[in-house]
Amino acid sequence: MTKLKNDTFLRALLKEPVPYTPIWIMRQAGRYLPEYNQTRARAGDFLSLCKNPDFATEVTLQPLARFGLDAAILFSDILTIPDAMGLGLYFSTGEGPKFERPLREEWAIRDLSAPDPEEHLGYVLDAVKQIRKALDGSVPLIGFSGSPFTLACYMIEGGGSDDFRTTKTMLYQRPDLLHHILQVTAKAVIDYLNAQIRAGAQAVQIFDTWGGMLSSSAYEEFSLAYLRQIVQGLIKEHDGQRIPSIVFTKGGGVWLDKIAAIGCDAVGLDWMCSIGQARGRVGDKVALQGNMDPMVLFSDPKTIRQEVRRILESYGQGSGHVFNLGHGVSQFTPPENVAALVDAVHELSTGFH
Ligand code: CP3
Repeated sequence: MTKLKNDTFLRALLKEPVPYTPIWIMRQAGRYLPEYNQTRARAGDFLSLCKNPDFATEVTLQPLARFGLDAAILFSDILTIPDAMGLGLYFSTGEGPKFERPLREEWAIRDLSAPDPEEHLGYVLDAVKQIRKALDGSVPLIGFSGSPFTLACYMIEGGGSDDFRTTKTMLYQRPDLLHHILQVTAKAVIDYLNAQIRAGAQAVQIFDTWGGMLSSSAYEEFSLAYLRQIVQGLIKEHDGQRIPSIVFTKGGGVWLDKIAAIGCDAVGLDWMCSIGQARGRVGDKVALQGNMDPMVLFSDPKTIRQEVRRILESYGQGSGHVFNLGHGVSQFTPPENVAALVDAVHELSTGFH
């Protein structure tokens, strides 16, 4: 295996000593970059971008060409799994993701099966291989998946929703059906992430974007239990290297201790919680990733620097911190403020190591 020129991100996830705090940004390749919009126009639309490994590689590398980021993340989407399950994913402009065949009928739910990633998601695995080649050992590549609960939300609603009413109705009225969907989806996620690891992903993140809207008991039963299954089913080592896993439940700060106990290497934090307090609670078990409010990027370099300093001070001295935003970067973000963020993290964090 080629040795990485910059393995700061992987070392921080394993809480090994690092010279500075590494940073990557959720949705770092996306619409706030003019070059992304140009490539998407050439591809035709977002899904064609995801399904063509040449385009996916091109946009994955775009933010790395601009900023000194410490990791690349595979360009794809969490909804590739339900698409491979036959639900018919499409994106209508301005309305976000939609499914032609949402999961509503009991017979369709009973019919659901986990796709073979090699057969049905080969374009993602090809992208992973091609991106690894293009990165040429510069920084590690992150693979990812949605959590079973978050995927189920989209599969059941047929798209995004303000309150996920249909999903929650099923949760309370037919928990057996929701558990069936989650069980099949958890297997799909394990197979998919392990296939990404075999193809070359060097760390994986599970996006549990909607787990935070559940009650505490429902979170444990319908989201956390499946996250635990996944983490336990992941390949822990590949090509002689540890493959760290990151679990990000948006709104999960209240369940931090429980999330940290499922066996993941790191927990992603949104901006609502204090990273210092989070470290006090679980810092002996896991690394922490986060957690600047993405809206800080609408201010100016001086304010961004202050906020970076505040978060670094809150986490304190030592390894185990990967800097990130508390959620994805907004499409309206000025790219020069992202540059200011990355530089501020690199400059200011040396004093903490
Ligand atoms: O972080 C990265 O750079 C990797 C790429 C990535 C995308 N989506 C690209 C994308 C990742 C990791 C995702 C995850 C994802 N997709 C989530 C979890 C994210 C989180 O932050 O919690 C969710 C909920 C989805 C489903 C999805 N895909 C939504 C809600 C949307 C937005 C629709 C819209 O128009 O606002 C997408 C589309 C999408 N995925 C875009 C990108 C860059 C924008 C599409 C475009 O170019 O038009």
